[in-house]
Amino acid sequence: MIWVKVLSKQEVEQEDFVTMVKADGRKICVIKNEGQFYATQNTCPHAGGILSGGWCKEGNLVCPIHRWEYNLKTGRGAEGQGDYINTYPTELRADGLYVGFKQSLWKRFFS
Ligand code: FES
Repeated sequence: MIWVKVLSKQEVEQEDFVTMVKADGRKICVIKNEGQFYATQNTCPHAGGILSGGWCKEGNLVCPIHRWEYNLKTGRGAEGQGDYINTYPTELRADGLYVGFKQSLWKRFFS
C-alpha cells in the first residue's frame, strides 16, 4: 500500500465537501461527509458521470447525472443497480489527508 497526501491540513478543516483530486496518476473523488473522510473512483460506472460533481445523501454518494447512489463506505450501488465503485482507504494525519492505493506488481518491480 502506498499512501498519497491529497488534501492539506487547511483543506480537511472545511465543511463537508465532495471534490476531485489527482493522486497516484489518477483522478479520484474525495468526500467529507458528517466529518468522516472517504475516497472513491471519480467516474460513475453507469454512464461516465463525474462523481466529484455529486453530493451525499444518507451515507451514499449521489451521481449528478442520473442520481444513482453508491455507499460511501463499501462502494456498493443502491438496490437494483447491481454495480459498485472502487473505494480507497483514507487516513487523517497531522499534515492532511492521505489516500491508500495498492501498489501494482509492475510499479513495485519496475519503478
Ligand atoms: S452516469 Fe452516473 S448515474 Fe448515470
